[in-house]
Amino acid sequence: CRFVILISGRGSNMQSITQACRDQGWPAEVAAVIANREQASGLEWAAGLGIPTRVVPHRDHPDRPSFDAALAREIDAFEPDYVLLAGFMRILTDDFVRHYAGRLVNIHPSLLPLFPGLATHRQALEAGVPVHGCTVHFVTPVLDHGPMIAQGVVPVRAGDTEDALAERVLSMEHVVYPAVASWLAHGRVALEDGKVTVDGVA
Ligand code: GRF
Repeated sequence: CRFVILISGRGSNMQSITQACRDQGWPAEVAAVIANREQASGLEWAAGLGIPTRVVPHRDHPDRPSFDAALAREIDAFEPDYVLLAGFMRILTDDFVRHYAGRLVNIHPSLLPLFPGLATHRQALEAGVPVHGCTVHFVTPVLDHGPMIAQGVVPVRAGDTEDALAERVLSMEHVVYPAVASWLAHGRVALEDGKVTVDGVA
């Protein structure tokens, strides 16, 4: 199973997945790490492990279709079975999402359908919810609303700041995303008619 992971920044989720893939000997490899900006510090980390890296600067493109087409060309050169968005901060066009239908996965830092979009931890604190967390889901053209594969739940504690909550959620992301990537690597995840089943789990 070949993964291409897309990042925009430090790529801590990419690191967690890559480390787990190697340490646990999945029948899989991270074929490439691709970023939309060369400052993404996750690129150096991946390159340090000998993983091919590419940058497709969104600034180099006049519009989203042009960027997405260039991005897809770079991705397809690595022939991925799955494309994992990990802290990838670009909204992708419907054409791009359709091109990768059923094999494009994202992690969102909330318990969807609660709190789609940005500043999810502030949304959670303002809503006063007792629990919060992260969702790994297949990407469909409707932002942050694709078929869910797994969620991780963390408590919201009295006096939590946005940063404290974000940190707690990120730690849970580093548990849930590698678990889902392992299920994908072992061919245990099926998506049929918008419904996800995981062999032996859900
Ligand atoms: C984090 O806020 C995480 O919740 C979300 O993307 C951001 C960066 O994650 N998934 P990463 O460290 O680049 O994986």
